[in-house]
Amino acid sequence: MTATPHLDAASARGREFLGTRHAIMAGAMTWVSERNLVSAISNAGGFGVLACGAMPPAMLEAEIAATRALTDKPFGVNLITLHPQLDELIQVCARQQVSHVVLAGGLPPGPAIAAIKGFGAKLMCFAPTAALAKKLVRSGVDAIVIEGSEAGGHIGPVSLTVLAQEILPVITDVPVFVAGGIGRGNAIAAYLDMGASGVQLGTRFAAAAESVAHDRFKQAFVRASAREAIASVQIDPRLPVIPVRALKNAGSDAFNERQREVAAAVDRGEMDLAAGQLAIEHYWAGALRRAVVEGDVETGSLMAGQSVGMVTKVQPVAEIIAELVAEAEAALARANAREAAA
Ligand SMILES: Cc1cc2nc3c(=O)[nH]c(=O)nc-3n(C[C@H](O)[C@H](O)[C@H](O)COP(=O)(O)O)c2cc1C
Repeated sequence: MTATPHLDAASARGREFLGTRHAIMAGAMTWVSERNLVSAISNAGGFGVLACGAMPPAMLEAEIAATRALTDKPFGVNLITLHPQLDELIQVCARQQVSHVVLAGGLPPGPAIAAIKGFGAKLMCFAPTAALAKKLVRSGVDAIVIEGSEAGGHIGPVSLTVLAQEILPVITDVPVFVAGGIGRGNAIAAYLDMGASGVQLGTRFAAAAESVAHDRFKQAFVRASAREAIASVQIDPRLPVIPVRALKNAGSDAFNERQREVAAAVDRGEMDLAAGQLAIEHYWAGALRRAVVEGDVETGSLMAGQSVGMVTKVQPVAEIIAELVAEAEAALARANAREAAA
C-alpha cells in the first residue's frame, strides 16, 4: 500500500490520464512555465505544462527538447489557439511526439483537433460552460479543464465553486481537471470528492524555487494577500477585453490608461475596433515579460490568482507538492473515517 491510499484512489482517473504519480497539474504560465519549472514539476510527480505563448515554432521545438533532457516523466504543451502559426506549432508537437497538448484561448478549430489527435496526443481544452464542455467532448477532446475566476492570468466571469457544481456532474465521459484558487490540499480533496479527476495550480508554482521568475516577482507573491489579486476592468464597451487577474500596481493603472488611449485613437479614426482590441491585448505579453524576466514589479504585470495569499515563502516544487498531497490525503482519510463510523 502507498502512503497516500485515499488520495491515490480518489485521483486514479486523473493520474492514469496524465501518466503521473499525482493528479496535480501546474498550469502553463507564459514566461514562467519553461524547461526548468516544467521538468521540476514532472520530476516531483506532478504534471508540468510548457507555455508556448507567442513563441515561434523553432523556439517551441528547442524548449520541448530541452525539457525532455531534464525529465523522462510526462509533461504537456500549452498552445494558444489564436497563435498565427498554430498549425506549425502542432507539427512541432507531432515531431517531438508530445503526449499531451492543452489548447487555450477560445474554441479550438476542428482541423487543429484532428491534427493533434492524428499524431496520437491526448488533447485537453478549457471549457467555460457545461454546454461548451459537452460540445468539446463530442468533438473528440480527451479531457476538460475548468478554470474559475479566482485564477491568475486571463479569466472568465464565474468562480470555480460554481463551475465545479455545474460541470462536474454532467461531464463524466472524460476526466475533468479543476483550476483557480487552489492553494491547499483540503481543497484538492473537496474537488476530487465532487467528481474532479485532478487539479491545476498556477500561482503557487510561479513562486517556486525552480521558477525562473525574477526574485522581485516571487517576493511580491510572498507579500500579497488574496484581495490584492484583482481582475482588470474594461473601460470602453466598444473594446471588450478579457479580464486579467494580477496584483494591483502602477501597471494596472497603466493598462486602464492604454485602453483610454486606444479608444481615443478609434474615435479619431486612426484604428478600427479589431486593431484596437489587438493593441489592448498586446499590452499584457510585454507587461508580463517585464515583471517575470526583468523584475519590474511596479509597471510590469504581476499576474496572480487569489490563492497568492497562500504563497508564504519561496519553496522547492517537491515541497509544495508534498504539502498538497499530505493535506489532501489527511482530509480524505478524515472523511473516510467519518463515513466508517456513521
Ligand atoms: C503568471 C501567470 C501566467 C499565466 N499564463 C497562462 C498561459 O499562458 N496560458 C494559460 O492557459 N494559462 C495561463 N495562466 C493560468 C494558469 O495556467 C492556471 O490555470 C491558473 O494559474 C490556476 O489558478 P491559480 O493561479 O489560482 O492557481 C497563467 C497564470 C499565471 C499566474
